[in-house]
Amino acid sequence: MNDVIDDLLAKLDLAAKVRLISGSGVFRFAGDTGIGLAEMPVSDGPTGVRGELWDERDPSVSLPSGTALAATWDRALLGRIGGLIAAEARRKDVYAVLGPTMNLHRSPLGGRHFECFSEDPMLTAEIAAAYVDAVQAHGVSACPKHYVANDSETERFTADVIADERTLRELYLYPFERAVQAGTWMIMDSYNSVNGTTMTENALLDEPLKGEWGYDGVVVSDWTAVRSTGGAAKGTDIAMPGPWELWGAPLVEAVRTGEVPESAIDDKVRRILRFAIRVGALNGTPQQPPAFTDEAAQHLVREAAAQAMVLATNDGTLPLGKPAQVALLGAAAAEPRFMGGGSATVIPAHTTSPLEGLSAVLPVQYTPGVHLNDHMIAVPLALVTDPETGAPGLSLRYLDGDKVLDTEHRTAGGLMLFGNANAMVAKSFELRGTLRVDTAGEWRIGFAGVGKLRLDIDGETVLTETVMPDGADPVEMLLNPPQRWVTRTLAEGDELDVLIELAPVLDSGLPAMGLTFAVGRPRRAADEEFAAAVELARTSEVAVVVVGTTEQIESEGFDRKDLRLPGRQDELVAAVAAVNPRTIVVVNSGSPVEMPWRDDVAAVLLTWFPGQEFGSALADVLTGAAEPGGRLPTTWPKALTDVPVVDTKPAADNSLPYTEGIHIGYRAWLKSGVAPAYPFGHGLGYTTWELSDVTVTGHTATVTVRNTGDRTGRQVVQAYLSRPGSAVDRPVRWLSGFDLVEAAAGETVTATIDLPERSFQHWTDQGWVVEPGAFTLHIGTSVADLPLTAQIA
Ligand code: BGC
Repeated sequence: MNDVIDDLLAKLDLAAKVRLISGSGVFRFAGDTGIGLAEMPVSDGPTGVRGELWDERDPSVSLPSGTALAATWDRALLGRIGGLIAAEARRKDVYAVLGPTMNLHRSPLGGRHFECFSEDPMLTAEIAAAYVDAVQAHGVSACPKHYVANDSETERFTADVIADERTLRELYLYPFERAVQAGTWMIMDSYNSVNGTTMTENALLDEPLKGEWGYDGVVVSDWTAVRSTGGAAKGTDIAMPGPWELWGAPLVEAVRTGEVPESAIDDKVRRILRFAIRVGALNGTPQQPPAFTDEAAQHLVREAAAQAMVLATNDGTLPLGKPAQVALLGAAAAEPRFMGGGSATVIPAHTTSPLEGLSAVLPVQYTPGVHLNDHMIAVPLALVTDPETGAPGLSLRYLDGDKVLDTEHRTAGGLMLFGNANAMVAKSFELRGTLRVDTAGEWRIGFAGVGKLRLDIDGETVLTETVMPDGADPVEMLLNPPQRWVTRTLAEGDELDVLIELAPVLDSGLPAMGLTFAVGRPRRAADEEFAAAVELARTSEVAVVVVGTTEQIESEGFDRKDLRLPGRQDELVAAVAAVNPRTIVVVNSGSPVEMPWRDDVAAVLLTWFPGQEFGSALADVLTGAAEPGGRLPTTWPKALTDVPVVDTKPAADNSLPYTEGIHIGYRAWLKSGVAPAYPFGHGLGYTTWELSDVTVTGHTATVTVRNTGDRTGRQVVQAYLSRPGSAVDRPVRWLSGFDLVEAAAGETVTATIDLPERSFQHWTDQGWVVEPGAFTLHIGTSVADLPLTAQIA
């Protein structure tokens, strides 16, 4: 391959080479027809493939998010999911998916916690490697991100993580090392700095990545992360989005003056050509992975969601059997979060809410009980028609003064014009629709967006305002912009002609624009609604309360401020539990939340952000058609005040010191001696297990596992190491390996756990070292439940 690459390189002049090392679009790598190199569209993201554009008319399968995937501890399932991601990528004509997200759960406040896998580097690495392997087996590139130490969002463009080499090697770099071993073709570097240098120019791109680990793939910048022309001498190979002005003509000049050596550019181009050969973009055709029918994709997402759900406690109320009547409560039951916010967003063709999923199989009566916040929602398609076509949806016009550049029929109330050619040239945007309300009462009608906005109702201007963003992060500004509205008292069936015009006034740094036609439905007064929910629970056989976070508190672009459930959700659960002993709480959050009522309810099921099939998977788990398969990939605290590592806010000099070193997650909890609500690795199923007889041969442990219950089940058998009497600062114990077993009622099977050499090593100035002496192996089903031990000399 190298000869071919050298021949092609020789055909490119300097300007052509520089063109190749930045994108030719927002989500597109440049091509060169002269050498037969196609342009290469790429797409977010980690849990679904949005495609090159952010457009509801081209929907995508929405998979469970990162924490959920890691909670399965199931490499084989990740293999099948990788196949689906590859199929989605090719269906959308993209060559690479920008995922998985492999930063660590250092603080539970981290805004992208939901998107990352785990607090443990080994679990992260294993899940990521299975993902990378499966996607790339079909000729589509993965792109593990963000290299490295991009573990929180506060001031993410400028934060300077200060971490010692051992901490970096053993924790934050380890998943990337494993992804390189798994053969990843692309890696994304991050916005932040590490030890004083921005990651797009950081020496960590040379060592260990490209040198010691022998990585021969491409390093792509995070979007807008390339900060200088001279930095092109360093390890980032492609600046995105493109064309990136700092790397255009100024870079050609910098090479001419000798500031940037041409050999550095050649190395980048070689890597890009190698990448292009791998994905079939150079004089070839990309591989075609086996396609998924809609049914097959839905089935896999539903299975994965159920496998990811963690049953934290259960007094035997679950599985439910056949209750005569179920009270379903909680705003999140009808309007759940299927995915986290930010660049990982995809637009699914259909979703199933808990209300829909449970109503299909159980005699459900529903009332929300609480309002999570005062945010309006994007106008539902069922309520709005495009005045141009008469079809459900809206009419979007791209304007340049009075000139109409284009008109589109859109089928979503919230639009995100990202990478869309018209959006880059239009001076203003106009969204029109006829709203027909389905309920009498006081409606809020308005918009969400940033810029100069105007709202007309029935031809009359009712609101104009120049709206500025609440936060500084461009992603937050696009995805979570401020809302404004007017109120109208309407009768059922009333129709209003609504027009919203937006003229951007700020340059977000991203060629993108977001605009939402938002509505707020009439709702009962808060106390009345609350009382109705409690009364319904009191008179029902079983109460299921779905609680969760919102996009305003858990998303890319900012960190959380606390771990509390928003609104009166805690109060609702407590009130419901007080009147119904069979209260099941379903938690719909991507990362830990405080659950002060957790010991007062019959069962707690953690569902994460489970993807589009949430409702059906939840119905499977609650009724017992499927076992909840998840085990915690991250510790769930009782309260934020107990959490050993919390801070995500850089100091005035931008530094964010990782003073805790190697002690994050359960390692830090073990060190502090405080018990969390639920420990790392914890999760119940619907059967019981007995573990016995550990045998260690070389670096493999085998364990006898017996299903002592009365139904088939799956168990994650976990192996941790400790090193009694060590001369080195170490965690009390740390994950070394795991195996997932399945057994029928009464059946005995063997778990086989690989214990990689790396898990015995620690990093020193001399490199990786195994401390002489015996290690103790601990086997069990969570970091806090390890009944079996063995010595490893
Ligand atoms: C995110 C990346 C993402 C990129 C492109 C950035 O803001 O940090 O994870 O891949 O946007 O959407």
